[in-house]
Amino acid sequence: MQSAGSDKKSKRRRRFKGFCLFVLGIVFAIGAFLGINFGMAQVSSPEYCGSSCHEMQTAYQTWELSPHGTNHLGVRVECADCHLPSKDNYFHYTFAKAWTGAKDLAVHYFGPEYDVEATRKKVQAKFTNEPCLRCHQDLLVSPTGFDAMAAHQGLIDRPDAPENQCIHCHPGAGHERDSKLHR
Ligand code: HEC
Ligand code: HEC
Ligand code: HEC
Repeated sequence: MQSAGSDKKSKRRRRFKGFCLFVLGIVFAIGAFLGINFGMAQVSSPEYCGSSCHEMQTAYQTWELSPHGTNHLGVRVECADCHLPSKDNYFHYTFAKAWTGAKDLAVHYFGPEYDVEATRKKVQAKFTNEPCLRCHQDLLVSPTGFDAMAAHQGLIDRPDAPENQCIHCHPGAGHERDSKLHR
């Protein structure tokens, strides 16, 4: 009788312990998720990207001068909007963000002296129209002039041609490098 009773009790205690662990696990998972998202928001702002190390100084200042850093709408297109995959795919975005961040850190501490011009060429060579098209979809509607419409029609016909890359015709879109401040 007695042993059956204590058996039941210890079973109940074990079950209770399991339940507590389960709840703790959920609380921990939620905490970690919120923490990651909060941290990500912090390290994704242009102010963080542009001020965290000297390598990014030119990029930050030239971005501020570009139509995406300053425009009449007061909209700021962030570094990540052009340099990372779309946020719609959370895991792809988060992974790319972590990878890029780690790479930048490694270069900062262990890499050779940062070369703006060389990096610019590397980024340029790999840059596609995809991030631009996330926001500029109505290329034939919004441009006011016929030359823009003609140029953009060519791009729609042959999107992969090198001369039809957005930054071929809009080289200062992300970074205004021709400004007197940065010559
Ligand atoms: C509208 C798209 C766009 C935005 C927004 C943008 N970039 Fe860029 N970025 C580019 C393109 C295109 C290039 C390559 C061509 C060039 O540099 O002129 C580039 C080049 C770079 C380079 C390599 C050259 C250099 O200056 O060192 C860095 C680093 C960089 N960007 C960081 C940033 C940071 C940091 C921000 C935000 C403060 C930012 N970018 C915002 C499109 C963008
Ligand atoms: C997150 C959204 C977003 C992305 C990504 C983006 N743009 Fe823009 N773009 C804007 C906004 C907002 C403006 C300012 C609106 C305006 O000037 O009418 C703008 C303005 C422009 C202009 C007009 C500049 C001027 O002088 O009036 C050009 C050209 C342009 N973008 C090209 C590009 C190219 C090329 C890319 C890719 C390298 C790109 N955009 C990426 C949102 C974006
Ligand atoms: C073959 C050259 C060429 C290519 C490639 C090109 N554009 Fe343009 N774009 C122009 C010209 C020319 C204008 C009109 C003059 C100007 O505003 O600079 C223009 C104007 C614009 C404007 C301003 C529209 C307005 O309201 O006045 C935006 C935004 C723009 N382009 C975005 C893009 C995007 C995004 C891509 C890539 C998907 C792209 N362009 C590719 C030549 C081009």
